[in-house]
Amino acid sequence: MTMLEVRDLTVEFNSGGYVVRPLDGLDVDAEDGELVVLLGPSGCGKTTLLSCIAGLLTATSGTIRFAGRETSALTGVDLAAHRRHTDGVVFQAFNLIPSLTAKGNVMAPMRLAGINRRQAAARAEALLGQVGLAERVDHRPGALSGGQQQRVAIARSLVHDPPLLLADEPTAHLDHIQVEGVLTLLRDLASPGRVVVVSTHDDRVTQLADRVVELVPTTSSPDREPELLELPAGAIVFEQGSRGDLIYTVESGQIEVFRQRADGTEEPVAVVGPGDYFGELGPMLNLPRSATARAATDARLTAYTEHRFRRRIPTDPPAPPSV
Ligand SMILES: Nc1ncnc2c1ncn2[C@@H]1O[C@H](COP(=O)(O)OP(=O)(O)OP(=O)(O)O)[C@@H](O)[C@H]1O
Ligand SMILES: [Mg+2]
Repeated sequence: MTMLEVRDLTVEFNSGGYVVRPLDGLDVDAEDGELVVLLGPSGCGKTTLLSCIAGLLTATSGTIRFAGRETSALTGVDLAAHRRHTDGVVFQAFNLIPSLTAKGNVMAPMRLAGINRRQAAARAEALLGQVGLAERVDHRPGALSGGQQQRVAIARSLVHDPPLLLADEPTAHLDHIQVEGVLTLLRDLASPGRVVVVSTHDDRVTQLADRVVELVPTTSSPDREPELLELPAGAIVFEQGSRGDLIYTVESGQIEVFRQRADGTEEPVAVVGPGDYFGELGPMLNLPRSATARAATDARLTAYTEHRFRRRIPTDPPAPPSV
């Protein structure tokens, strides 16, 4: 029986005047008990797809059904209930609380859901046993290996016994032996009553999969032509914390680059003008933008993909602000 059904899913982000479309009309099906692997290079949309399936991100168009229910149409309390009862999510970083033991970390979501301490402790111990950590329940994350921490995160995602387990790169940063442990565990968890969807760069993971969904990058095509952007004064080129794959040169006007402090005030970083470039750090290091860029005057910019930018870069570039 088809449990998970993704139909014609498209996600668009607006990134500095460009539309970035990591998912474009994607279809995915999974039967009950299957392990589905999302495979593809960085930036192809794996996290985006998992976020949509988890109900953390709303797609631009298309539908997602789980167990016959159109989960992509849920809002408000229905969506919150779906997230709580249907999905178990394991993020790219383990997100364990360092001051709590393995058991404390697994108990945390149960305590938040109002389950009493004794019951939560018993279930946490059972789940840690299930992921092979019976001997490590009282260790803090700092005293556990990467693979063990990952298994604690998986145990925590199982507290509500979710019929859908989503894991974003669960084997990243693990050595070969640790990878095997985590994969065997995920393979065992994909059994009747549950669908497991895992993203990875690593094609070894695909050997255990019932189904492999290969995502191809639809954005940052190396040959995308540079594009001229005309911005009115005050327009935002990109926001601090956002992801973007474009690097900009200033043709005319001025762009101010500033950091947004937690208290909402702005810390100026640089003002760049004709001939300067900015925004190279995020795309080159695959990091979120470390600052916001805004047109201080009416401005014209050329936006380059990283590949194009590297080809145009002069041998002796002007010292740019690093953002
Ligand atoms: N909130 C956002 N705003 C703008 N662009 C975004 C946003 N989130 C993701 N993107 C872009 O969408 C594309 C897909 O991103 P996503 O994080 O899904 O990739 P990924 O396959 O998970 O990559 P990785 O393997 O590096 O984790 C990238 O080009 C990214 O820059
Ligand atoms: Mg990702």
